[in-house]
Amino acid sequence: MTFRSKLRSLALAGTALMIAGLAAGTATAKEAGGPIADEAVRARADALIARMTPEEKAGQNTQYFDFLNAPAESKRVTDEMAAARAGSLLFVTDPAELDRLQHIAVEKTRLKIPLLFGFDVIHGLRTIMPVPIAMAASFDPKVAEAGQTVAAAEARAIGLHWAFSPMVDIARDPRWGRMIEGAGEDPYLGAAMAAAQVRGFQGPYLGSPGHIIAGPKHFAGYGAALGGRDYDEVNLSDNELWNVYLPPFNAAIDAGAGNIMSAYMGLNGVPATGNRWLLTDVLRKQWGFKGFVVTDAAAAHDLMTHGFAADNQDAGVRALSAGVDMEMAPPFGASAFKTLPDSLAAGRITTEQLDNAVRNVLEAKIRMGLFERPYVDLKAAKRVLDDPAHRVVSRQAAEKSFVLLRNEGNLLPLNKAAVKSIAVIGPLADSARDTVGPWVFDQDNKETVTVLAGIKAKAGTGVRVEYAAGTSMPARVNKSIFEEVIKDPTPVIQVDDSAELERAVALAKASDVAVLVLGEAQIMIGENASRSSLDLPGKQQALLEAVMATGKPVVLLLMSARPLDLKAAKPQALLDIWYPGTQGGAAVANVLFGDAAPGGKLPYTWPRNIGQVPLTYAHLTSHQPEKAEQRYWNEANSPLYPFGYGLSYSTFAFSNLKIAKASVVPGEAVAVSVDVRNTGARKADDVAQLYIHQRHGSSARPVRQLKGFERVTLEPGETRTVQFTLRPDDLSYWTAAAGKVVQDETTFDVFVGDDSTASLTGSFDVRK
Ligand code: NOJ
Repeated sequence: MTFRSKLRSLALAGTALMIAGLAAGTATAKEAGGPIADEAVRARADALIARMTPEEKAGQNTQYFDFLNAPAESKRVTDEMAAARAGSLLFVTDPAELDRLQHIAVEKTRLKIPLLFGFDVIHGLRTIMPVPIAMAASFDPKVAEAGQTVAAAEARAIGLHWAFSPMVDIARDPRWGRMIEGAGEDPYLGAAMAAAQVRGFQGPYLGSPGHIIAGPKHFAGYGAALGGRDYDEVNLSDNELWNVYLPPFNAAIDAGAGNIMSAYMGLNGVPATGNRWLLTDVLRKQWGFKGFVVTDAAAAHDLMTHGFAADNQDAGVRALSAGVDMEMAPPFGASAFKTLPDSLAAGRITTEQLDNAVRNVLEAKIRMGLFERPYVDLKAAKRVLDDPAHRVVSRQAAEKSFVLLRNEGNLLPLNKAAVKSIAVIGPLADSARDTVGPWVFDQDNKETVTVLAGIKAKAGTGVRVEYAAGTSMPARVNKSIFEEVIKDPTPVIQVDDSAELERAVALAKASDVAVLVLGEAQIMIGENASRSSLDLPGKQQALLEAVMATGKPVVLLLMSARPLDLKAAKPQALLDIWYPGTQGGAAVANVLFGDAAPGGKLPYTWPRNIGQVPLTYAHLTSHQPEKAEQRYWNEANSPLYPFGYGLSYSTFAFSNLKIAKASVVPGEAVAVSVDVRNTGARKADDVAQLYIHQRHGSSARPVRQLKGFERVTLEPGETRTVQFTLRPDDLSYWTAAAGKVVQDETTFDVFVGDDSTASLTGSFDVRK
């Protein structure tokens, strides 16, 4: 399949995707030759290895940072490359600089081995997609695949070869800021989104034109950081690891991911980056992973910091021996892999070990075609970055990702004929930097459509749209690591809070409707952005309550990627818009005015109160299940919004649940179907979701587990029959009773509907 036809097949329903020019500069006929045979790749790598010195080998296995903000460090990094003491680089995104460095590697080093350039292409490069958790909320893997296809095209065009993405860590604790980078709490949704993103980044095969290597991370368990504190230790039972945290990694590898990043933290006391069981026994032996493993930043060196390795040299030995192929060396710091030649000389590692690691890296370079096409076509790169079709993909993805949580009296969509004045209020409503979210370094703020700009453009001349920030956004108490490297930090809105609040209230009073945009600034979420509270930062809660007290209809747009606690406030309409990306404001306006209907669903459980976290829909029955609501004496334990929840502009009914067989034998698949009917008056999307519950078996199993979903677009009155297949894998799980995956003889309940409280139910048996 060509790049162009792939994009076409990914074109989202509704607006025609502008395909023209999409593949410009990304693929030439010569490049589109298909994958190189495994034997040829290996032979070529081995021929190089035979000529390499131990220092050159260690160089191939070393990746350096260059933030281009410290000339002395940039010089050191360039010198290391010119001396073949580094095989890879991260954080450079200037195409001319990438090209310059590549010329040095290819023309000046003895063996002319090209460099592999990696970067955190998390949700776009120039065209910024909605953040990953938003793409997961679409419950439509095609959205994530299309988004990462565009991200890959832009990255490849400027000379990058590899994304440290997708993050496939399961996150059940919203205090953890990195929840934004993944697909939320559920392993089934997480696996689907992991595979979709790998397909988007890599295309049909590793080395596909216009595509890059995907690097699922952080292997493994990082999402369970204690207390939601970033980088903190992780203690996970085998049960949770095998059944919850590992499946998205397995799915990413089955989808062909060429790289894996090892995690920072200790897993059950053994640092993930020195964990042979994880990196060799599970990853390579059990799952057959054939790509290369990179450490997280400085994580090999950190084996010493953890109190695991004796010193830096020991750290290098233990990371390599565990199964690491490349060290992402500490910025400005001492690389552990630099010491590998000494360790080889001292007999602490073998030539075979070192060669295996080098081979894994070289094979990636060969597959990516770097020896044939190492350089950057600067003109083509500009064309690709400017491609308007990419912005369309971003806007459509944003529209598909929004989750409508409240819509009292069908306030939304706004009635364009009746609404003549709109008060747009909130510190995030006109911040281009926040609209695109964290992990973004190369966006164009000038072209980013803020919510205010989107509403103004859509409302047209007949409607008065006015803006008040309403309050300032507070600064972080503890600084973020990104404040150092970000080129354009969030502009600080300096307002007199009480005067500004009055201004906002007056504006709301003088308008037909108030649209508030509240939440967390992008610097408050992501890596190094954990939080001990789920409250709206600063004085935003007071602003919300004051505007609501005017009695005017209020639409609250939440810019956030974790569930926030709005206390008792119940705005008439509540739409989670995440961090919607480059075209965020345009997407918001389309949804507010009904040109697109929201159909996203929550990829995590939304607690009432932070005291409930971690909270998941997929818990065990446990003792006295009838009193599960009363586990706390002070309030109910049910969530505010359940996993999978989200309204639309229409209503839907589920009926006619059919389970093809009343009884199957182990290993047999079960076909399930259900009719979904649009019972309202508007064309809209819903997501049919299938959950199972195993009644008894070798282990107790969760009350519900998602095992199928499909997003459908239905005209008013239209009915669609959605088909699901429960495969034997879906009915199997890892049990601590046997220390392996089993499929029990048992009875399964099936629930189908449009959130995790679905009530349409049936059952079937599994019997030999
Ligand atoms: C640390 C983060 O944990 C990881 O996700 C990222 O890819 C690297 N830094 C490189 O920026």
